[in-house]
Formats: sequence, structure tokens, C-alpha cells
Amino acid sequence: MGDFIQWLEGTAIATFVRESPSIFAYTSVLSLHAMGLAVVVGVGAAISLRLLGLARGIPLAPLLKLYPLMWIGFTVNALSGIALLAASASTMLASVIFLIKLALIAVALVNMELLRHRIVVDAATGTDVAAPQTRGFAIAALVLWGAVIVAGRLTAYPNFVSSLFG
Ligand code: HEM
Repeated sequence: MGDFIQWLEGTAIATFVRESPSIFAYTSVLSLHAMGLAVVVGVGAAISLRLLGLARGIPLAPLLKLYPLMWIGFTVNALSGIALLAASASTMLASVIFLIKLALIAVALVNMELLRHRIVVDAATGTDVAAPQTRGFAIAALVLWGAVIVAGRLTAYPNFVSSLFG
């Protein structure tokens, strides 16, 4: 594992992101990370809020058309995240809050697909009011993505995080 981490940090892309003074290095990769997360979390929040009763005039079925956009946002976010991870692999992979963030992302993605299934089921009944179970997944989506953002932000503050866990 140690060898792999060292190799990862030494790759051309990791060294470029970490050490280059170019605006296209760390700054741009971190910006792409934020833009990708804005799309997946922002569009996801709009879908969740609609399911919770906001903007009732919008039918349920067309919400499904927004899923590919969320996956595009997530792909940009994940690719830039992997580049940021490679740049600081030894610190990141030893960071509890970073590992918590990755676990939360996995749960949030599974929840996102379960919610898609619930929208298909609800839309098939012809209703434009989400079922209670669907609302549950919508609330979980808001909470999970919010938690991922907080965990992501906290990775930059290891001292604060260790003070939280005593
Ligand atoms: C495969 C997926 C992902 C990986 C590998 C990844 C990795 C990273 C890394 C290495 C950093 C830099 C931390 C630092 O230098 O302090 C970072 C920052 C961050 N990530 Fe991710 N990330 C991923 C997905 C996400 C997702 C889905 C979200 C939110 C929905 C997110 C939110 C954030 C935030 C808020 C920051 C802090 C940005 C800042 O300090 O300005 N990440 N991520």
C-alpha cells in the first residue's frame, strides 16, 4: 500500500497538480471539483425539493431527465477529486474525515439511484404528489449530500477534526 501511495504521488498528474504554479494546476482542478459538485448536488436538491412539495406544477416524470446531468456533474467531480487525491495521497488516505467523505459519497449515490426508482414508480401511477417513501429518499439525499460537502470542506482542517474527536 505504501509503495502504491508513493507511486501515485509521484505520477506526472499528481506532481503537476501539487507543485505547478500554473493556474491550470491546483486552482483549476479544485474549481472543477466545486463546479461538478454544484451540478450533482444542486440539481439533486432541486429534484428533492420538488418531491417534498415545492413547485408542484412541475410533473414528476420529467425529473428523471435530469439524472444524466447529475451523473455528468458527478463524473467531473470524481475525476477532479481523484487528481486532488493523487496530489496528496499520503495525507488524504490517512485522514479519517476524508475516508468518511468517501463512504458518505457511496451511500449518497446508492440513495440517488433508489430515489430514481421511486420517481419511476410514482410517475407511473400518474400522480404528481410523491409517496411518503419517495419523500424519505428525497430528505436522505439532501442530508447525505450536505454531509459530503461538510466532510469535504473539513479535510482541509485536520487539527480541527482531531480536536472534535478528542
Ligand atoms: C470520487 C470522489 C471524490 C474524491 C476522490 C474527492 C477528493 C477530494 C480531495 C482530495 C479534496 C481536496 C481536499 C484538500 O486539499 O483539503 C477534495 C475537496 C473537496 N471535496 Fe471532494 N472528492 C470527491 C467527491 C466529492 C463530492 C461528491 C463532494 C460534494 C458533494 C465533494 C466535496 C468537496 C469539498 C466541499 C471540498 C473542499 C473544497 C475546498 O476546500 O474549496 N467531493 N475532494
